[in-house]
Amino acid sequence: EKGGYDYFMLKEIAEQPKAVADTLLGRIDANGSLTLDEVRIGAAELREIDKVVIVACGTAFHAGLIAKYAIEHWTRIPCEVELASEFRYRDPILDSRSLVIAISQSGETMDTLMALRHAREQGSKVLAICNTNGSTIPRESDAVLYTHAGPEVAVASTKAFLTQLVACYLVALYLGQVRGTKWGDEISAVIRDLSHISGEVERVLETMEPVRALARSLADKKTVLFLGRHVGYPVALEGALKLKELAYMHAEGFAAGELKHGPIALIEEDLPVVVVVPSPRGRSVLHDKIVSNIQEIRARGARTIVIAEEGDEAVVPYADHLIRIPATPTLLQPLVATVPLQVFACELATARGNEVDQPRNLAKSVTVE
Ligand code: F6R
Repeated sequence: EKGGYDYFMLKEIAEQPKAVADTLLGRIDANGSLTLDEVRIGAAELREIDKVVIVACGTAFHAGLIAKYAIEHWTRIPCEVELASEFRYRDPILDSRSLVIAISQSGETMDTLMALRHAREQGSKVLAICNTNGSTIPRESDAVLYTHAGPEVAVASTKAFLTQLVACYLVALYLGQVRGTKWGDEISAVIRDLSHISGEVERVLETMEPVRALARSLADKKTVLFLGRHVGYPVALEGALKLKELAYMHAEGFAAGELKHGPIALIEEDLPVVVVVPSPRGRSVLHDKIVSNIQEIRARGARTIVIAEEGDEAVVPYADHLIRIPATPTLLQPLVATVPLQVFACELATARGNEVDQPRNLAKSVTVE
């Protein structure tokens, strides 16, 4: 049942710290190394892989887009991400050295299932990242890494998404660990940070009241835009998807660097634009670029809603609304940056009188192609 919440979605948003912690449970050993023996693809075989291809739909696809950054950075293996519904129709280049990762909460999504069948026919190994024990996708895969989000009832995916990210990071770090890359120290540090991340998600949840108030104040808007760079770009796509499906509003996510190639023409007086700001530490060049993007859109009248790390003062002069998230390693930021966007969409949907758990025209698992 809803455990005191008005909607399953609110309950599932609140369950995210536990879902994240449960997905890490038993997978980090006492020495701070990963043990993914349950992934029944041996270390020797993982060392042979020369390409990773991720297939998924919707929110799971956004997890895949983020995984690409992590996999390529920590393993130096080329990684492609493709919408499952597009994958097999373009005759993708696959062989026995390709590792195909199929991400699916339900494990029953037909597009994803058909993509993995196609991959196996080409001789590729398929690893499923799935939240539903014994469902079709893990049954038909060579290996499975289960996410431990628990049952997700609301149609809009929230806690499953965060656990898909955790599973993707685990796979990326594990591949890095098994293959030995120059990032060994960074990998150990990130594993340590991952083991604390559920507390950071909890801290974000404790500060969501202003986000709710902001969402309610925007209930009569027609459009909201979302901008991000690097891993913040798929977060922007996810924020836009949540708003479309729940609030039935026009929403689009863009890579902030693409603004000047077209979308900036959309900016007009008082248009809400949510910007996911990368950490000013680490890859700081990205941070500087996005600060100038925020300046540009604000100069054209946009209402800027800025999601930025605690202590990031550079964004303050240009933020009409500032949403703070804890500092995390660059690649892990989606785990904290997505949460305010979920809350934002849920509250906006409620303010517009929509049925949050059962948005119109949507089903929880899509078993047709
Ligand atoms: C969005 C949403 C959908 C699913 C997509 C894939 O909130 O829930 O976009 O993510 O239909 O579903 P699974 O992960 O079950 O394959």
